[in-house]
Amino acid sequence: MAFDGMSCRLGRGISFGNALDAPREGDAGFRLHERYFAEVRDAGFDTVRLPVRWSAHAGGSSPYTISPALFERVDWAIGEALRRDLNIVLNVHHYDELNDAPRGQRPRFLGLWRQIAARYAGWPGRLYFELLNEPRGAMTAGAWNELIPLALAVIRERDPGRAVIVGPARMNDIGALPELELPDDDRLVVTVHYYAPLEFTHQGAPWRAGADQWLGTTWGDDADRRAVSDDLARAASWAAARGRPLFIGEFGCYERAGLAAREQWTRFVRLEAERLGLSWCYWEFGTDFGAFDPARNSWREPLRDALTGDGNPLAG
Ligand code: BGC
Repeated sequence: MAFDGMSCRLGRGISFGNALDAPREGDAGFRLHERYFAEVRDAGFDTVRLPVRWSAHAGGSSPYTISPALFERVDWAIGEALRRDLNIVLNVHHYDELNDAPRGQRPRFLGLWRQIAARYAGWPGRLYFELLNEPRGAMTAGAWNELIPLALAVIRERDPGRAVIVGPARMNDIGALPELELPDDDRLVVTVHYYAPLEFTHQGAPWRAGADQWLGTTWGDDADRRAVSDDLARAASWAAARGRPLFIGEFGCYERAGLAAREQWTRFVRLEAERLGLSWCYWEFGTDFGAFDPARNSWREPLRDALTGDGNPLAG
């Protein structure tokens, strides 16, 4: 099992975002290919994260049957990762209806996990489950703390040994960690997402209102770096105090910041995470945060190097 108490072996990861988390694969202009798993392995990553929008492929009433075609695609992706000795993190992504109506959607959310856990029970320990990407909106810390043990119980009934990843409310923000209540379960990994400062990482992002006004925001002076170090250290000490491994499950910088600036921020965050002994997962592989350019079928070398190159913190 890829898990041993305090440490977790997720190491260095990258998300295959905007593939199976789009309403339909391909809707966001990106599809998974076998060769991408090989690229990730060859570049030196240990882990892929596979965001999946199960809610767009499941029935609306009990037993909320997940489409066999989606399950087959996910089986394939997990298999591609496992046969290359990559860990794979499988999550529930973009379940917007749940964030809008946590109580009303509860049976369906649990129904999805019932099916996912049953299907993958017995699969290798390199497969990790992540309960829900970025709880937000009406999924407040209170609502989320109610739901976590219920979802975990559904999983544990079918797959007692599986490592399960869970993050705080407010979009997995580090600042929301103090409100996260963890069930007594020794196979839990805590996750947070890191995009600070948002004005830098999300400048020009079309889905953030006002993000065009952030265009031109720079990053990298001493105070900027200190802020990153302090944020990550705060998260690391929260997890250490509770005896949990911490996984920076997403961090990254949208394409409009420019490649050189993205490289600098990405390298610094990655090296700080590693200095603190945290595993991490870059957002994302092949679209608008992409470290890889599918059109040229090659890595954006500065980002690839920032993620898996020999790290010199002073060069970043
Ligand atoms: C979302 C993406 C978004 C990214 C950065 C992810 O959790 O699913 O749509 O691009 O965060 O904001």
